[in-house]
Amino acid sequence: MLFPEGVAIDGISGEVTPSTDRYTKKLSELSGLFHDAAAFDKVVAEGGDPIAYEVVDYRKQECDICFGTTIMMPGQVGGEYFMTRGHFHERKDCGEGYYTQSGEGLLLLESREGEVRTVEMKPGICAFIPPEWAHRSINTGSEKLVFVWFCATDAGHDYGTIRERGMRKLVVERDGRPAIIDNPNF
Ligand code: F6R
Ligand code: ZN
Repeated sequence: MLFPEGVAIDGISGEVTPSTDRYTKKLSELSGLFHDAAAFDKVVAEGGDPIAYEVVDYRKQECDICFGTTIMMPGQVGGEYFMTRGHFHERKDCGEGYYTQSGEGLLLLESREGEVRTVEMKPGICAFIPPEWAHRSINTGSEKLVFVWFCATDAGHDYGTIRERGMRKLVVERDGRPAIIDNPNF
C-alpha cells in the first residue's frame, strides 16, 4: 500500500529526498551526440570524462505518476553545449512537464512531423511537452541547470530515433550567447 509523503526537492543541488532511483551520465556515454567528434574525444580525455548530467527519480510502479529531477552540468563540446540524449516517449499519449528550478538552458523539441520549437529554461518556467514531441534539454549557462520533471510512470523512452538521426537543430555558443543553428548532419 502506498502512503502520502512530502518529498524534498533542493532547487540548487537537485537532490530528491526520499528518492527511489538515480543514474549518472558521464560525457563518454554521450558519444555520437555532439557534432564535433574530435572535440568530443578531447573534452573526454582532457576533462577526465566529466559528469554531464544526473537524474534522480521518485517513482512508485503501482502509481501512474512519477517525478524527479535532472541536474545538468555546464560545459561545451566544440561550441555545442552539454545536452541530454533526447527522446520521444514510447507511449504516444504521454506528455511531460519540466519545471526549471535553477540555472539556464533551452529545451529543444521536435515533433514527429519535423516541426522544431524551443522553450527557455529558467527558474519559474514550467515547460509543457506535448505527446509525440522529442525533447532534449541543453545547459546554456555557466552553472548547473536543475529542473523537476513529471510524467506518467510508464511513459517509456524511445531513444533510438534521435540517436540514429540526431535532431534538426544544434544549440551552440556564438559571440557568448546561445544560437540555434541547422544540424549539418541531419
Ligand atoms: C523523462 C524525461 C527526463 C529525462 C532526463 C534525461 O521522460 O524526459 O527525466 O529522461 O532529463 O534526458 P534523456 O533521458 O533524454 O537522456
Ligand atoms: Zn521525457
